[in-house]
Amino acid sequence: MKPSLSLVSLSLALVFGIGHADISTNVADLRFVYYPTASNGVEIVYNNTSSLQASNLKAGTQTIIVIDGFLSNLTTPMSQSVKNAYVSNRGDQVNVIVLDYGRLSGSGQDLSNPLNTASSYLIVMNNVQPIGERVADFINFLRVNKQIQFSDVTVIGHSLGAHVAGNVGKSAKTNYNQELPRIAGLDPAGPLYSLQLIPSLRLDRNDAAFVDVYHTNRGELGIIDDIGQANFYVNYGSSQPGCTVQDITGTKGYCSHSYSWKFFDSAFTTSYIAGACDLLDCICGNCTINCDNGILAGPSTPTSASGLYFVSAGPLP
Ligand SMILES: *[C@@H]1O[C@H](CO)[C@@H](O)[C@H](O)[C@H]1NC(C)=O
Ligand SMILES: *[C@@H]1O[C@H](CO)[C@@H](O)[C@H](O)[C@H]1NC(C)=O
Ligand SMILES: *[C@@H]1O[C@H](CO)[C@@H](O)[C@H](O)[C@H]1NC(C)=O
Ligand SMILES: *[C@@H]1O[C@H](CO)[C@@H](O)[C@H](O)[C@H]1NC(C)=O
Repeated sequence: MKPSLSLVSLSLALVFGIGHADISTNVADLRFVYYPTASNGVEIVYNNTSSLQASNLKAGTQTIIVIDGFLSNLTTPMSQSVKNAYVSNRGDQVNVIVLDYGRLSGSGQDLSNPLNTASSYLIVMNNVQPIGERVADFINFLRVNKQIQFSDVTVIGHSLGAHVAGNVGKSAKTNYNQELPRIAGLDPAGPLYSLQLIPSLRLDRNDAAFVDVYHTNRGELGIIDDIGQANFYVNYGSSQPGCTVQDITGTKGYCSHSYSWKFFDSAFTTSYIAGACDLLDCICGNCTINCDNGILAGPSTPTSASGLYFVSAGPLP
């Protein structure tokens, strides 16, 4: 049976409150790995200044924190791929750090049983807020010891990681009275987050000075709502080129969901021009992009972007 996150399984798991001793809820199990080069990760242990000094993290420098989703860890494709894209395209200007929350993400769970998958998801959802809070504490640790300000830190989150990123921004505000400059949400997780069920815990446009969201599997694994300041409907936002077969035969929606970070990575080297649209045109396939008014989508999106945008792209490996 394929892993699934159906509402039925989620409801059953809620009712039975199934627990998992093997999914940690302890934020001391988070790992922060800095990549001076794409292939060499150096762990920085929170509040351990000797590990920070030994890492040679660049002081007073723009810093990117990459956060993958449910079931992820340091080695999962989004963690590695977005890290590689930043290191190879901007590595001389920025620090790139991957958050490995594999002990708290459900990584390694047996997904052959939908009920197990759903109950794992619920446990990991409850980890989202404390993880975000600890990441904000970690940024403060960098501020005190490496002069990296909150305003130097951009967080890139995919799926559940986008909601973790939102909670980093919320904690920066609440606990430190600081604002992150930018959070990019790459197809933020939809199940139990869509349609305002728990708006205060999910990524929100107020979590950073600029929040951009990329919809690629909207309404399935991805969120329905336009929770960013700028909301990009990539190829109409729900089903992606090259994914038709995989989305039906594999984990439902996984390929289109993953397209969000593939698109973001690809945008380092390809200029994707997005045009403003209204909701119906964004999702119904009647978008006309006026390139005179177009903006770049992806890492170089202008932070003045606001509202809904349509952007198209072809199949991505
Ligand atoms: C980390 O260090 C800061 C500053 O010394 C301290 O306030 C905080 O409680 C420490 N956190 C943990 C979990 O040890
Ligand atoms: C701090 O990090 C250093 C270097 O990575 C390590 O050798 C040391 O054991 C750590 N100290 C603590 C208290 O964890
Ligand atoms: C990380 O996730 C991958 C893919 O799910 C898995 O194969 C691997 O065992 C995990 N690694 C750790 C250290 O948990
Ligand atoms: C697409 O939008 C244009 C301009 O709003 C409109 O004239 C046209 O009829 C629409 N086409 C379709 C197929 O909906």
